[in-house]
Amino acid sequence: MENNVFEQMAKRYDTQERIELANVILEEVKPRLQNSKDKTLLDYGSGTGLISLELADFVQSVLLVDSAGQMLEVAKAKIAQSGISNAQVLNADFTQEVPDVKADIVFMSLVLLHIPDTEKILQNLFSVLNDGGELWIVDFDKNENISHPKVHNGFAHEDLKEKLKEAGFASTEIHTFHHGEKIFMKQDASMFLARSVK
Ligand SMILES: C[S@@+](CC[C@H](N)C(=O)[O-])C[C@H]1O[C@@H](n2cnc3c(N)ncnc32)[C@H](O)[C@@H]1O
Repeated sequence: MENNVFEQMAKRYDTQERIELANVILEEVKPRLQNSKDKTLLDYGSGTGLISLELADFVQSVLLVDSAGQMLEVAKAKIAQSGISNAQVLNADFTQEVPDVKADIVFMSLVLLHIPDTEKILQNLFSVLNDGGELWIVDFDKNENISHPKVHNGFAHEDLKEKLKEAGFASTEIHTFHHGEKIFMKQDASMFLARSVK
């Protein structure tokens, strides 16, 4: 869903606001990737790679997965330009078909809200994780000020924890790490990081 929107906006996706928000997310995530040089990271719904291309030095390899090919074209140009040698892209939609890939960490930033069937994508992401692997989700906290037919208005921690448990995850830790002005459909909102262990 929203695929066409992202195909169309790819070349103008990296605005100052989105780069600033990506930097806030990176500040939260980077410290947790110390000692991860032997881990493979799959960035699901990577977009133009604003987050995961900045994480490439922290891990063994990065696979940027997105259903919008145009977003990946932008990411590919960045990879070539900056000479990152351990990043690849994959045009795929795991809600339709799960390819034969495996990862130690699946990272998903501001993507879950765009996927209608939360349970299904959580199950499919569980299946690509190696045993003991982790799913890291960054998204918006539930926000009753927002109502949109195609986008979830954020997630309540306890509801999401329950869905992650049902998908098979052994444990989940969730915390809110940022409150910002007009960051979610022009509304003030907060973001969480959820880390689940397979
Ligand atoms: C808001 S952007 C976030 C991009 C990036 N994760 C970031 O934080 O900068 C959402 C991305 O998710 C992708 N996306 C949406 N639905 C998807 C799906 N079902 N499978 C894969 N990617 C999807 C879109 O194409 C888009 O690139």
